[in-house]
Amino acid sequence: MIDKNIGDLSGFAALGITGALLKATHGAGFTDPKPIQTQAIPPQMEGRDIFGIAQTGSGKTAAFALPILSKIIALGTKRRAKTTRALILAPTRELAVQIEDTIKILAKGAHVSTALVLGGVSRFSQVKKVAPGVDILIATPGRLTDLVREGDLILSDTKWLVLDEGDRMLDMGFINDVKRIAKATAPDRQTVLFSATMPNEIAELAKGLLKNPIRVEVAPQSTAAAEIVQGVVLARTKQKRQVLSKMLADDAMKSVIVFSRTKHGADRVTKDLDRDGFKAAVIHGNKSQNARQKALNDFRDGSVRILVATDIAARGIDVPGISHVVNFDLPDEAESYVHRIGRTGRNGMDGIAITLCDPSENSKLRQVERIIRTKLPVVADHLGSPDPQRNPAERNERFEPANDRPDHNGRRDGRRPGGGNNGFGKKRFGDKPAGDRPFAAKPQGERPEGRKPFKGNNKRRFGGKRPATRAA
Ligand SMILES: Nc1ncnc2c1ncn2[C@@H]1O[C@H](COP(=O)(O)OP(=O)(O)OP(=O)(O)O)[C@@H](O)[C@H]1O
Ligand SMILES: [Mg+2]
Repeated sequence: MIDKNIGDLSGFAALGITGALLKATHGAGFTDPKPIQTQAIPPQMEGRDIFGIAQTGSGKTAAFALPILSKIIALGTKRRAKTTRALILAPTRELAVQIEDTIKILAKGAHVSTALVLGGVSRFSQVKKVAPGVDILIATPGRLTDLVREGDLILSDTKWLVLDEGDRMLDMGFINDVKRIAKATAPDRQTVLFSATMPNEIAELAKGLLKNPIRVEVAPQSTAAAEIVQGVVLARTKQKRQVLSKMLADDAMKSVIVFSRTKHGADRVTKDLDRDGFKAAVIHGNKSQNARQKALNDFRDGSVRILVATDIAARGIDVPGISHVVNFDLPDEAESYVHRIGRTGRNGMDGIAITLCDPSENSKLRQVERIIRTKLPVVADHLGSPDPQRNPAERNERFEPANDRPDHNGRRDGRRPGGGNNGFGKKRFGDKPAGDRPFAAKPQGERPEGRKPFKGNNKRRFGGKRPATRAA
């Protein structure tokens, strides 16, 4: 894949990254490219469209940002008013903010202008920012659609389009906006799409946006990062509060995201944690944008150890050092599981993901196991115990990062969790041996029944009514 003419160059220089950009990339601590970067950067430098799949936390952001930065720097500074050269679409505002931060670090000293267009914050300041024209715009589709409709932003000069979390961007909530936005960009644009998950029917939709793309697949879609040790705790819904609080009492749970399926559920979990003596920040779609960003910032800078979140924080959010992800309940879409647990075990670090599962959630658990092609070990079973606090057999349960164990228990040998000896010893996770499962996984490789192919109305144009079910 790497050009033979590059001689003895190595690292990012061998991928065609040069000058100030190479310097800033090294300054960001990126010296050795990650596999997705090695494989996806050279074809992008050649102008090819990319359909990129790689695990969570594996460096997809720089894989799309560096080639764009490289080309924009080479172009010089001439821009037309109200235009953007490159457009990066993301499903949530927090992710858009994070992508801009990463780009600013990678472009340090290179005079590349960036702007954010996202909902929930002042529209006026965004219009002002894009008025002279920008190099790279990072946006959520709803507000971007508004600006284009009102004539405050013109996309006809946009030669690079990125769909980060591409499968989500082509899912029902976004597809119409994304199609219209893509149509408004330059016809000879380069389009790249990246995600850790890619259901087949969404991959079909992607074909309509990508021109003769190169498929770069570091691991099969929905493969969880190998660093994440996963386990299931069987507990009835009414037991979950107690089970969670008992877990969190363990100091080994240094930095924890607790995912809840619903906004109401997230509030309830946060309140219950507070009553049980645990301070937690909460992030979900009913909070103001300021409150959302503050919760994430407080968690990022370590002011709070626990973040309770809906799936709004499941995709893309990169907070180094999250030791544990707890799924208080299972997500409606199996893919969300892959993204939720991917908030830990990032960039080669260890992580533990624990899913609390009520018997009513067994079918969702099976769907998750089907897409990740892994049986999840049951690490504790409270179903026979009405009060987990009083069950002496479970007193020694510990949930600690694998790094705290002296020998890593063979975790680096490439074996997938759930295959038997995966580091879940009896001592650490109570009395239920892994693999002793009250339910069995269905045959692998099929899609969950829940997701239907998109049959939406494509007739809406800029100016049409916005869908009510928007996530960002
Ligand atoms: N070449 C590199 N060297 C060192 N660190 C890197 C390199 N590339 C990326 N990282 C770091 O790895 C972390 C994860 O990167 P990134 O957020 O791009 O992952 P991702 O693949 O987009 O994950 P997700 O699927 O969750 O969005 C970041 O903290 C980033 O700074
Ligand atoms: Mg990402």
